[in-house]
Amino acid sequence: MSKLLYIQASPRADRSHSRKVADSFVETYRQEHRGAEILTLDLFHRDLPAFDGEAVNAKYRILHGEKPTEVERKAWREVEAIISEFTAAEKYVFAVPMWNFGIPYRLKQYLDILVQPTYTFSYTPEDGYKGIITGRPVFVAYARGGAYPAGTEAEGYDFQKPYLETILAFMGMSDIRSVVVEPTLQEGPDIGKAKRDEAIAKAREMARQF
Ligand SMILES: Cc1cc2nc3c(=O)[nH]c(=O)nc-3n(C[C@H](O)[C@H](O)[C@H](O)COP(=O)(O)O)c2cc1C
Repeated sequence: MSKLLYIQASPRADRSHSRKVADSFVETYRQEHRGAEILTLDLFHRDLPAFDGEAVNAKYRILHGEKPTEVERKAWREVEAIISEFTAAEKYVFAVPMWNFGIPYRLKQYLDILVQPTYTFSYTPEDGYKGIITGRPVFVAYARGGAYPAGTEAEGYDFQKPYLETILAFMGMSDIRSVVVEPTLQEGPDIGKAKRDEAIAKAREMARQF
């Protein structure tokens, strides 16, 4: 039975639109896959290691094929623990709000920890960059206060979905499915709720094929 990792990037608990949609997806998935192993990771409650001087030094040592120092190694072990938890999963679900046209800082920190040479991507001069996390489906529930429809000027402000999907693809994930709830704020709570209900229905349908 596949292991599913559900990553929550909104701190708004039950008020969160992205979480409500992703929760519904996971609930339907669970009903369809009795006994499925599902791990939930709330990025605003999980104690993520800082990706600071020692961890960055260790990353560069790996890039240059050098041995990290003892202090760097200690920082790196915490990074490795987060990566192992991530790579142990075979399916991923993300709940992602738009913050300042991009993603919340806790999700960026998580990605900065995950995206490491030899762990989630490789590089050789012959083949260039290659993602290592291949063959694993991803579902993302995005929520935005405003609306960023394709073909409009607003679309150019969307650095949430293009960024997340670029970095997931960089790690090798090519099967990325998603629903977008928008606008959650701009047109008032009734429209926000109606859009969310539409997205929940789509998400439940998609969970059956996941
Ligand atoms: C710090 C912060 C920044 C935000 N920035 C944007 C933004 O740039 N564009 C936008 O459309 N909505 C923005 N919003 C609104 C959220 O995208 C919206 O409330 C969405 O529903 C959040 O997802 P959630 O309901 O899952 O928490 C922002 C909200 C917060 C808290």
